[in-house]
Amino acid sequence: MQKILVARPIFPDVIERLKQHFEVDWNNGEVLSAEELTRRLADKDGALTAGDPVGAAVLAAAPRLRVVSNMAVGYNNFDMAAFNASNVLGTNTPDVLNESTADFGWALMMAAARRVTESEHWLRAGKWQKWAYDGFLGTDVYGSTLGVIGMGRIGQALARRARGFNMQVIYHNRSRVAPEIEAELNAQYVSKTELLKRADHVVLVLPYTKDNHHTIGAAELAQMKPTATLTNIARGGIVDDAALAEALRAKRIAAAGLDVYEGEPNLNPALLTVPNVVLTPHIASATESTRRAMANLAADNLIAALGEGPNAGRPANPINPDVIGKARA
Ligand code: GLV
Repeated sequence: MQKILVARPIFPDVIERLKQHFEVDWNNGEVLSAEELTRRLADKDGALTAGDPVGAAVLAAAPRLRVVSNMAVGYNNFDMAAFNASNVLGTNTPDVLNESTADFGWALMMAAARRVTESEHWLRAGKWQKWAYDGFLGTDVYGSTLGVIGMGRIGQALARRARGFNMQVIYHNRSRVAPEIEAELNAQYVSKTELLKRADHVVLVLPYTKDNHHTIGAAELAQMKPTATLTNIARGGIVDDAALAEALRAKRIAAAGLDVYEGEPNLNPALLTVPNVVLTPHIASATESTRRAMANLAADNLIAALGEGPNAGRPANPINPDVIGKARA
């Protein structure tokens, strides 16, 4: 039997499925350190990760390893140049999380716009004595302008929901999406600067790459309306969190909703000191059915990539399909 490592706690029934094909080393505990991950991969043919960094050193120390299946759509934890150089396949879990993640983008955007968590903290602190005409005034969502940066599958799912809110949709992306998608979403392609200037609610849904590190920093925040909100459901590092905390403190923008952070699970302590930000712990895809779908898809990708099951040799979600069938380098 081939050997695999499951690097994270996941649904036990998914582990049982994997055991039908493999000898499974399951880390059902704390996140593995780089050293521990490297040590446990040394004799493995495959691995299932969820955000664990895998680069050249880890791959070099695991000469049998042929596939790493990430239980996430984002795979910025993989050094894909190193995967390609050693002919190791990476896989991810796109699509199954689109709708849950788009729902959550709306939840954060609306909570930020309407000051849901800020007012709840105030209420819980026993500060509610009387109705006030100016208590927790927020920014309207209905009829406003939504600015989506990153118009991939999740961005489109998010924008599709804007119709019911009678919103104007503007977007920025590496490239324009197909005209029929623009028409369906009633979305207008604009430059990043125009988007930042016009949008009442900016939502970030782009993958993290070196090129979009700090896509939103002090200069970009300064271009936004003082009444605007910023929501990040993409990845930490796309926003300069220190600059954002300062913009929120100075009320250069009205509010923010964040699910992802630079250096998470540790976050910039300044974010904890500003009231006008809704903070959640990277849970945009966290519904029972979506997380189950992600775990099963990650398992299916691993099973298929290691030549097992009904799709042997044909994993559904290869990131670097060119290495399929090539000998491990
Ligand atoms: C979650 O962040 C994912 O990339 O799936």
